[in-house]
Amino acid sequence: MQKERYDILIRHANIVDGTNAPRYAGDIGIRGDRIVRIGELAGASADVEIDLAGRIAAPGFIDAHTHDDRAMLSDPDMAPKVSQGVTTVIGGNCGVSLAPMPRPIPDPVTPPLNLLDDAGGWFRFKTFKSYLDALREKPAATNCAMLVGHATLRVATMDDLGKPATPLQITRMRELVVEALEAGAIGVSTGLSYEPAMAAPTEEVIEICQPLMDHGGIYCTHMRNEGDQVVAALEEAFRIGREVGVPVVISHHKVVGENNHGRSQETLAIIQKSMSQQPVCLDCYPYTAGSTILSLGRARSSARTIVSWSSALPQYAGQDLADIANQMGVSEEEAVGRLQPAGAIYFRMDEKDVQRILQFDETMIGSDGLPHDALPHPRLWGTFPRVLGYYGRLLGLFPLETAVYKMTGLTARNFGLQDRGVIREGAFADLTLFDAERVDEAASYEQPIAPSRGIEAVIVNGVVVWHHGRSTGAHPGRVLMRAKA
Ligand code: ZN
Ligand code: CU
Repeated sequence: MQKERYDILIRHANIVDGTNAPRYAGDIGIRGDRIVRIGELAGASADVEIDLAGRIAAPGFIDAHTHDDRAMLSDPDMAPKVSQGVTTVIGGNCGVSLAPMPRPIPDPVTPPLNLLDDAGGWFRFKTFKSYLDALREKPAATNCAMLVGHATLRVATMDDLGKPATPLQITRMRELVVEALEAGAIGVSTGLSYEPAMAAPTEEVIEICQPLMDHGGIYCTHMRNEGDQVVAALEEAFRIGREVGVPVVISHHKVVGENNHGRSQETLAIIQKSMSQQPVCLDCYPYTAGSTILSLGRARSSARTIVSWSSALPQYAGQDLADIANQMGVSEEEAVGRLQPAGAIYFRMDEKDVQRILQFDETMIGSDGLPHDALPHPRLWGTFPRVLGYYGRLLGLFPLETAVYKMTGLTARNFGLQDRGVIREGAFADLTLFDAERVDEAASYEQPIAPSRGIEAVIVNGVVVWHHGRSTGAHPGRVLMRAKA
């Protein structure tokens, strides 16, 4: 009798299957892009055999919140992500997507769109379809599912961003949303606290999002406020979801500013209650500092601000704003002005809030990493191993199975990614193999660019993309669509 043969065989795994079920021992046989057998496969052989000797096999992690729109094209190895076990990224968040940009992007690039490309040349896709086609023609190492950003739509269609959109502009933006959804976008994102979107009333968002219902799309929001007005902002997000008739994702849920510390008790109770009335999800990154473009207002509500990039004065990247102002002999306000355009890391959350939100049953893990910053927030390279290592193993916030569920099965279900996020026969072979005793972030605020510890191999669609601490150079990623509920 002929021996059973696979393309990849993972032996002696402890399988954490992404459903929050207890781990179990088994071998995993992969053929093509699928998991075809799970069980005792001692007699089988394969082209590639990996013996885990009891270490963990988990579904590849799904990064619920990213800004990888351009990185997938400009840095297709996606090392910051695959090095921490991520096999799928959700892009186009916070109202900012690389496409569509049917007319020339303003020079300088309107913040926060410059988080994707401060020079502007990458905003070259006139339609969402042409962007997704580029991703399909030159795939990245990871899969992706993409949102179309409301701020991008405003920049693409409006000359005065300080006003609500006119009926004509709304019609135009809605057409662009339809084009994006038909091309394969999974939904719309907003960043209502950012300048290009701030002037948009709730009704504008509702009208632009109308096509989501028919296309089975989802609404993701960086809310209008994450500080004093966080409750009103939550209510606005729920209202948009109800009136459009689609699920809402509360992006990077947090409460900022010292006077709001502790209020996650209140916001999580409100979110929990809303979940019994309409579909609501949320994600979170495991740090007390946030990161985005540099602004005086954000710096003033932070205990500490580190500049993460500056196009005007790049030599200051990595330094505290207070020190930079001192060296310049000017006020922080003046320093902020001189550094523009620039980005920053803001320490303005409470550790207890971060832990409470991470621990909340329905919270997914999303990095919100900014791949083009000179000295990025460590969340770009460290988010997933930090949840598994620091928060899971060390602090005991949750068992390993639950931590993995928050980055796999839960996320795949919320975003409608079929046959992803779980280890079972017939599912796609997206896998992360790691050592549960060692896994942790190596990135820090001082040294933010560092592959995590304990991630042994990462497989995307049946192809190894990360092994022995480096990228293999394979780019098997696909553009994923949202399965209609
Ligand atoms: Zn955001
Ligand atoms: Cu974001």
